[in-house]
Amino acid sequence: MERNPLRVSFAGLELENPTILASGVLGYSAESLDRVVRAGAGAVVTKSIGVEPRVGYVNPTLVQAEAGFLNAMGLPNPGIGVYVQEIGHCKTVLRAPLVVSVFGYSAQEYAGVAKKAASAGADAVELNVSCPHVRQTGAEIGQDPKILKEVVENVKAVIDVPLIVKLSPNVSDIALLGRAAVEAGADALTAVNTLKAVAIDVETTRPVLANVKGGLSGAAVKPVALRCVWDIFEELPDVPIIGCGGISSWSDAVEFFLAGASAVQIGSAVAFDEGIFNAVNRGVLSYLRRKHLGSVKELVGLAHRS
Ligand code: FUM
Repeated sequence: MERNPLRVSFAGLELENPTILASGVLGYSAESLDRVVRAGAGAVVTKSIGVEPRVGYVNPTLVQAEAGFLNAMGLPNPGIGVYVQEIGHCKTVLRAPLVVSVFGYSAQEYAGVAKKAASAGADAVELNVSCPHVRQTGAEIGQDPKILKEVVENVKAVIDVPLIVKLSPNVSDIALLGRAAVEAGADALTAVNTLKAVAIDVETTRPVLANVKGGLSGAAVKPVALRCVWDIFEELPDVPIIGCGGISSWSDAVEFFLAGASAVQIGSAVAFDEGIFNAVNRGVLSYLRRKHLGSVKELVGLAHRS
């Protein structure tokens, strides 16, 4: 049987192709996650789940920016107690790995949610230590190497599925935080979550988002995300990196592989076209053929060679 050049394996995960639905974009339900798997995604990440149900911020929570979106939803979610049932449902429906994104307000909370998600059938857990605007969680944890290590160690101790840590670009040295996460037990790193940003309405003379500050995603952040992947790969060349930030074409994905990513997450572009996964995969495959390469793996970090 012919080998699939798009297949990737890292951190104990096996994906039919290197495209992954990013957290936050299509929520939590088995039906919406299945739609993107059918549209070609190699794996899916849920929106972040916490211990308790949370309604999130009031509207407006999303605004279109010059080349992307600015959002501040406020981590709305049903709570892991309810969501475990949907994880079970996902497992019967999805034909690709399910990654559950989790957050908490302490190391113990992160560990508690992660443990329940893994026991319910998650194929991997992604820690949201990078949401840029909810207090006492997200980036407030992921920007401090000591607190980050404590969270990752606590989670690692209670799960036996791959542990992915999603990092924030809103830091001065992302490689240092990547190292802290890996030393504490992370199996892979996602780089990156959104950039902290503001939009102002000149007619109302007020900030557009109810929360004032939000996270910028989409094409505007791609060069920043690519630099983050670059920096992490230079520091940790043996650690799998999942690139995330403004990927909307096969050539964007290839740039991330060349910078050091083993796979890519796609988020904002899904809002325009759920068929983006198949389009990216087709383009990557034809690029591999044109360059006479046998696999995505052969591209990973290639731009760093001297
Ligand atoms: O507002 C939100 O729920 C965003 C979460 C995140 O950026 O991680």
